[in-house]
Amino acid sequence: MLEKSAKPLRTHPKAALPRKNEMESPNAIIITGASSGIGAALARRYIEDGATVGVCGRNRDRVLSVCGAAPRAIPLVFDVTDPAACETAVKNFEEEAGALDLAILNAGYHLATDAAAFDLETCKRIMEINYFGALNCLAPTIEAMKTRRRGIIAMMGSAAATIGLPNAGAYCSSKSAVARITETLRVELRAFNIDVRLITPGFVDTPLTARNEFPMPFLMPVEEAAALIERGLSSKSYEISFPRRLIWGLRLASLLPRALYFKLAERLLPSERRTD
Ligand SMILES: NC(=O)c1ccc[n+]([C@@H]2O[C@H](COP(=O)([O-])OP(=O)(O)OC[C@H]3O[C@@H](n4cnc5c(N)ncnc54)[C@H](OP(=O)(O)O)[C@@H]3O)[C@@H](O)[C@H]2O)c1
Repeated sequence: MLEKSAKPLRTHPKAALPRKNEMESPNAIIITGASSGIGAALARRYIEDGATVGVCGRNRDRVLSVCGAAPRAIPLVFDVTDPAACETAVKNFEEEAGALDLAILNAGYHLATDAAAFDLETCKRIMEINYFGALNCLAPTIEAMKTRRRGIIAMMGSAAATIGLPNAGAYCSSKSAVARITETLRVELRAFNIDVRLITPGFVDTPLTARNEFPMPFLMPVEEAAALIERGLSSKSYEISFPRRLIWGLRLASLLPRALYFKLAERLLPSERRTD
């Protein structure tokens, strides 16, 4: 039985706070992976705020359901692994909504991986969606924002980028790659007045984590995660990470002597796979 269904989900203290008005609210926003989970919750929030939102995903029905009857929601059905489709989506969005203010590159995929049954295709698929999928959208986004010298790009990372976690090797690697390129983008695009951010959530209750068959510490309801992300994006913080206890726990783990970390991490494997 998953721990998430056994315990009520905790409310993050900052999720209920009003948004900091440090930055002007974005008017034209593209959110990839907005047909489900975190992206859908974010899209609904921004639509409610009155922004024009490009709601992206492959599943047309789910994309349309998130758009609902909102006149300012623009459905964009495409696969992020197709660079030409990403370019067309950004172009179509700008034709309808005007200059893109904020791109949240959130589309992602996770499937548990295990070196004992190494599945190269799954590893490649995870990288293809989480890393190259983000880059495919990044290319037309940078192009659009660079000429205007204005815009915010938010890359969806994960707490899993902090350290290699058993049965999530491919996912951790894909999100580490996202985190590293986001750091360089932040520096390289500054001169063009493009503000690059990294979103680093812990466990959030979405269809993606519903497949997990292990306890997920500090699992957070998706609405709270979306509230924290929107609030973070309206502030000036580079990294929007939560919940703090999980983030710091993983950061500390990454500082441990390797031998000690490997011993501890082995405990996350089934008992028959442990060596002590
Ligand atoms: N949930 C968590 O605990 C958690 C924690 C840290 C980070 N994240 C990250 O947050 C992001 C959203 O995850 P989620 O939990 O909200 O998962 P989710 O509910 O499964 O949503 C994933 C979204 O990505 C889209 N997507 C997947 N593959 C795609 C593709 N090839 N082309 C276009 N869209 C694609 C899906 O849309 P379609 O199926 O319609 O294409 C869906 O809208 C992911 O990047 C994930 O890695 C999640």
